[in-house]
Amino acid sequence: MSDLEIAAQSINFIFAGYESTSSALSFLMYELATHPDVLKNLQQEIDETLPNKAVPTFDALVQMEYLAMVVNETLRLYPVANRLERVCKNDVQVNRMLIPKGTVVMIPTFALHRDPEYWSEPDEFLPERFSKKNKDLINPYIYMPFGNGPRNCIGMRFALMSMKLAAIRILQNFSLQPCEETQVPMKLSRHVLVQPEKAIVLKVVPRDVIISEE
Ligand code: HEM
Repeated sequence: MSDLEIAAQSINFIFAGYESTSSALSFLMYELATHPDVLKNLQQEIDETLPNKAVPTFDALVQMEYLAMVVNETLRLYPVANRLERVCKNDVQVNRMLIPKGTVVMIPTFALHRDPEYWSEPDEFLPERFSKKNKDLINPYIYMPFGNGPRNCIGMRFALMSMKLAAIRILQNFSLQPCEETQVPMKLSRHVLVQPEKAIVLKVVPRDVIISEE
C-alpha cells in the first residue's frame, strides 16, 4: 500500500470504529443503570471470574457468558448503523419482484431488530434472548449489528473485545444508577446513526465507598 492508502485506511478505521464503539458502550451503561438486576448479575459474573478486581485476560473475557449476552442485547436494541446498503450487481428476481442491476437495496437493521414477528417484547432489554439455550434460535439475517456477508464490519471482534474490556473495568469499580437528568424511557433521535435524543447522563457510584448513616 502507498503512504496515502495507509493514511486513508487509518482515518477510515478511526471514523468507523470510534464513535460506534463509544455509542454502543453508552447505551450499554444506560441499560445497566435502568436494569439493576442485570447490573447485579453482571457484576457478580465479573467478580467471580476476576476476583479482587484482577486485570481481565483474553481467556477470562471469552469465558464470560452473561457479559456477551448483555452486549449482544444492547446491540440488538441499538444497532449503531441502523441500516445496511448493498448495490445489486446483476438483475435479480426475488419472490416475483425484479430488482434491476445498479439498484441500491436498503436492509433495515433497526426495524428487523425490533420486529415483533421475530422477537417477543421487542422493545424490552432482555439479555436472556442470547443465552446458550436461546441464541441458536436467532436468525443471522434478522440480527445483524455488524452487518453480514463478505463486507460485514471488519472491526467486529476488536469492537466486541474493547466494549467488554471497558465494561469490565468500569463495573469492577463503579455501579450505575439513573439520576434526575436521565431520560427514562430514552428517546432516540432521527439521525442517520442510532443516537439518543438527549445525552445519556447517569449517576456513577464507587463500589468501595461505604456511606455512613450519621
Ligand atoms: C460497536 C461497534 C461497531 C459497530 C456496531 C459496527 C457496525 C458496522 C456495520 C453495521 C458495518 C456495515 C457492514 C455491512 O454493510 O454488512 C460496519 C462496517 C465497517 N466497520 Fe464497523 N462497527 C463497529 C466498530 C468498528 C471498529 C472498532 C472498526 C475498526 C477498527 C470498524 C471498521 C469498519 C469498517 C472499515 C467497515 C467497512 C467494511 C467494508 O466495507 O468492507 N467498525 N461496521
